[in-house]
Amino acid sequence: MEIINSVAAMTAWSNQRLRAGEVIALVPTMGCLHAGHLSLLRTAADKADVVVVSVFVNPLQFGPHEDFSRYPRPFAADCEAVSANRGNVVFAPEPSAFYPERFQTTVTVHGLTSGLCGASRPGHFDGVTTVVAKLFNIVKPKVAVFGQKDFQQLVVIKAIVRDLNFDIEIIGHPIVREADGLALSSRNRYLSETERQSALCLWQALTSARRAVTHGEIDCHAVLARLRAQISPKI
Ligand code: PAJ
Repeated sequence: MEIINSVAAMTAWSNQRLRAGEVIALVPTMGCLHAGHLSLLRTAADKADVVVVSVFVNPLQFGPHEDFSRYPRPFAADCEAVSANRGNVVFAPEPSAFYPERFQTTVTVHGLTSGLCGASRPGHFDGVTTVVAKLFNIVKPKVAVFGQKDFQQLVVIKAIVRDLNFDIEIIGHPIVREADGLALSSRNRYLSETERQSALCLWQALTSARRAVTHGEIDCHAVLARLRAQISPKI
């Protein structure tokens, strides 16, 4: 497993692989890798000859009062995990080299980004689409794997691929959860035990809504009311 820190070296590595006729898969991450990320890696490895994992805490997608500076960065452990899960390269550029002084371009998806996370995190998706478009151009993958855990992000990425004609297959990977249903997330470590228990209401509400539908509930308002009743007291 190789660690590549510069954009030029990453481009050169990818060009060489493409000349050899190999298929490159990309798994973009912000590091602090857990079993969810690693499952994306293995899916990528099944689809390609070589797998590049980007580990880059992208400053553009964090709001001014968000956790950019305290986002966990256990880089050595991440590299070991990539190596043990069929990853060939960790691409970890320096933010100042990735976004040099005269950087002034933003990739924006309209519409899809206005609700859900986009409503509470202004500018977040511009940061995501801009970094992902750059990663696509630098790494030149034929396949890229994203988690369904960030479902809006997955749909927004599919939109840039379609609208900007990236010749890349986007694979949406199912959510990997803890045994009790909590979706794995690098940010779960911020939660106290009480908060962690409260967070389970999302999975519990979704499974109970699913149960109601499979048992014949066809009124979407009733399903929504049931979801709200389970989630609202916890937030
Ligand atoms: P990050 O939060 O590190 O997630 C990297 C990828 O792992 C994303 O595609 C995310 O959906 C997926 N993932 C995270 N937890 C998962 C889980 N429990 N099950 C399945 N997939 C999971 O998402 C980002 O980074 C960034 O926005 C990025 C796309 C890298 C752009 O900076």
